Amino acid sequence: MRVAVACDHGGVTLKPAVVEELAARGAEVLDLGTHGTQSVDYPDFARLAVEAYIARECERIVLICGTGIGMSICANRVPGIRAALCHDEYTARMSRLHNDANCLVLGGRVIGPGLARAIVGVWMDTPFEGGRHEARVKKIEDMPGS
Ligand code: RB5
Repeated sequence: MRVAVACDHGGVTLKPAVVEELAARGAEVLDLGTHGTQSVDYPDFARLAVEAYIARECERIVLICGTGIGMSICANRVPGIRAALCHDEYTARMSRLHNDANCLVLGGRVIGPGLARAIVGVWMDTPFEGGRHEARVKKIEDMPGS
């Protein structure tokens, strides 16, 4: 599976652990930056990742900023993207089982590399449960403004 990863300066310290964990699980990682600690604007990097998704260059996205909030707001504006900000393994698992989240968002100033790896692992390995959740996920695309 191809996974695009993008972050701002608030997420750049956490990114290597995320990229390593994805690669260890066989993902083909598209690292879209940022690559340094210089201050950048998180919407610019969220944009790179969602554009890669729309262009079918990846099947999933992982975004990282300081809190994960800005990246989540950006990604969830894009029809077809279901971004889940997860700070623990439970929410990561549920974001796949119930929400079919195709975008994982992490807070680089909230969690450390060990927990990030665990979250990424669960998120990559957990399938969508389907069933009653199919119709609910479909209704997301019918939200006003979509
Ligand atoms: C950058 O300082 C910070 O605002 C950003 O990483 C993120 O937390 C925004 O939501």
